[in-house]
Amino acid sequence: MVRQRMHPPAYFRCVVSERFSYYRVAGRRRLADLAGAVRDGLGSRPYSIPPRFFYDDAGSALFEEICSLPEYYPTRTEAGILGSVRRELAGLLGGRFRLVELGSGHSTKTRRVLDALEDAGPGTEYVPIDISDVVEAGAGSLVDDYPRVAVTGVVDTYEGGLALVRGMDGPPNLVAFLGSSLGNMYPDESVAFLGMVRSMMRPGDMFLLGLDLAKDKSVLEAAYNDSAGVTARFNLNALHRINRELGADFEVSRFSHQAPYNADGGRIEMYLVSEADQTVRIPGAGITLRLRPGDRIHTENSYKYTVPQIRMMARDAGFAVRRLWRDDNELFSVTLMEPA
Ligand code: AVI
Repeated sequence: MVRQRMHPPAYFRCVVSERFSYYRVAGRRRLADLAGAVRDGLGSRPYSIPPRFFYDDAGSALFEEICSLPEYYPTRTEAGILGSVRRELAGLLGGRFRLVELGSGHSTKTRRVLDALEDAGPGTEYVPIDISDVVEAGAGSLVDDYPRVAVTGVVDTYEGGLALVRGMDGPPNLVAFLGSSLGNMYPDESVAFLGMVRSMMRPGDMFLLGLDLAKDKSVLEAAYNDSAGVTARFNLNALHRINRELGADFEVSRFSHQAPYNADGGRIEMYLVSEADQTVRIPGAGITLRLRPGDRIHTENSYKYTVPQIRMMARDAGFAVRRLWRDDNELFSVTLMEPA
């Protein structure tokens, strides 16, 4: 692999092969981001850790495990929708696109979209953007399976990645944000985020958004409290990460996982709950945390949407909906939009 320093030097470019390279944001910025967020989130009540810090290598691997759990329906349902609308999607796209995927993870869900893009026009370029180093492994296996696809990955925030893409020439972009990752943002952040994506798009670009739908509480709570305990390990991994990267001394076994559905808010809420009286030092964030039994650290919201809510968000962010698909059980949705 060849590494080149970029100018301005916020990114390294790693060349893995002729068809696969990626940009990686310099480590110090990521560590400063974690330290600042932990200082803000755990420095005062109500305690919180932003969900983007789940996704270090261990967290990304655990999330991949979650995606194939029997209780976690979103991943397979979305893949089913994308598989069944492949031809229709290719027809709606009607030509060559660069696929830009926000939160690409292991690039599993991407394959269905790439299939549709290959139907629409050969020789696709794929730009996976993910905060985690998983980009190299995820897109690496995809390069082997798609010999006509060139991959330029970005290991950075969505905003950072989109800013890089903005500077690229070539075909129009199909920006994909799948897996209901938008649901991990608060509603006002979601519309602002969609507006930011919209502002980075050029005429002719399209946007593909996968969102989880509102449904029975029992189905939702089972999906986030799986019987194998993988979601609990995913949640607790945030504390292991803070121990490792910020030199903290969380005793992880003294915390438990909780994920109730908040019907009024229309969201699953995830918490780490203190099981004891405990004091935790976090030198890398310059704070000490005193917790009593039952004290909670909020780690994630996962919003669930109705179709009218999706249409309204799209409109408020400046998009026109071309097509909205759902599975037969109305568990999940995929929406194709274009700048209005
Ligand atoms: C990434 N995101 C959409 C997942 C979700 O369903 O909200 C994260 C997750 N948290 C627990 N299980 C899965």
